[in-house]
Amino acid sequence: MAAFAFDIDGVLKHGKSHILPGANRVLNVLSGRTPEVLAQKVPFLLMTNGGGQTEDERLKALEGDFGVQFSKNQLVQSHTPLQDYVSEYRDKPVLVCGGEGDAARSVAHSYGLKQAYLLQDLVAWRGNVWDRYHLTAAEESFVRRDIDFSNIPFSAIFVIHDAGLDWALATQVITELLNSDGGRMGTQRQRKKGVPDGKEIPLILTNPDFIWPTDYPVPRFGMGAFRTGLDAVYKELTGCDLPYTQFGKPHTTTYKFAESMLRRHLADIGGNPADPLSGEPADPADNPASDIAGANAYGWVSLLVRTGVYAGGEPAHRPTQIVDNVEDGVMWALKREG
Ligand code: G3P
Ligand code: MG
Repeated sequence: MAAFAFDIDGVLKHGKSHILPGANRVLNVLSGRTPEVLAQKVPFLLMTNGGGQTEDERLKALEGDFGVQFSKNQLVQSHTPLQDYVSEYRDKPVLVCGGEGDAARSVAHSYGLKQAYLLQDLVAWRGNVWDRYHLTAAEESFVRRDIDFSNIPFSAIFVIHDAGLDWALATQVITELLNSDGGRMGTQRQRKKGVPDGKEIPLILTNPDFIWPTDYPVPRFGMGAFRTGLDAVYKELTGCDLPYTQFGKPHTTTYKFAESMLRRHLADIGGNPADPLSGEPADPADNPASDIAGANAYGWVSLLVRTGVYAGGEPAHRPTQIVDNVEDGVMWALKREG
């Protein structure tokens, strides 16, 4: 049976509001909302390096965008695979960064993390953590002012999205925590420049995209650009490369997670979760470096559209097929299925 994993930005949408041609039709047809075209629902999910809000909130927004009822087994955001990763941090203090307002705390709580703190909580604790950052009235309404962070041993740092992330404040605090004594703010351990000591607390990043397409005429920097800057600052300070774990396309952990979700979705729509999915899902996507590289490495059919980051010529990662847009990609894949 055919199956699809749709990239969002550059394939279905540009930025917050611009729906790309064919996106509505394709998703409605595959959801069986126009039965005259397809005899049965075709399993598909949305797989994005985007994020910064809970899956429930994003699903609600996507339903508004496309007029399609998605199930919880049809959305993989950059940080969704963390659900299977964070259990060891459940009852430990963690720093969560990114997303608008206190979205990062909501995402962390939705994954079962009970002691999730924000960069803004640290500014509320001591304004001189980074004295260029001033809490807004909205932030004053959600920051924690009851915590003395000099007694909090952070066990990990999660950067869930670059939206709403103040790169300067984040760079300052993340670097401080990686160099701290036991994850405590306001401390600095002894270390030899250029010698990794393995005492850094884990840093987990969830979206490697250096650029991404929006409704602005030129692609914008993504979280991969934030990491590049953080890496340069950390290296200048310590002489060592930034130690981090990366989630998001093209990393296999994300594709493995997406495949298991696609199988749960297959069961949801009455299919057989053990179905070989006709070998592999087709992945209409726009970014060769993340989407095509990831699908190819995972053995999926990679369909490179011309409506996003890819602007023609020989792509850095060769797709199964280059197509004009998402609708051409779906028709190509369904025809291939026979
Ligand atoms: O922040 C979103 C961007 O990095 C790309 O998202 O949907 O094209 O994987 P997407
Ligand atoms: Mg994209």
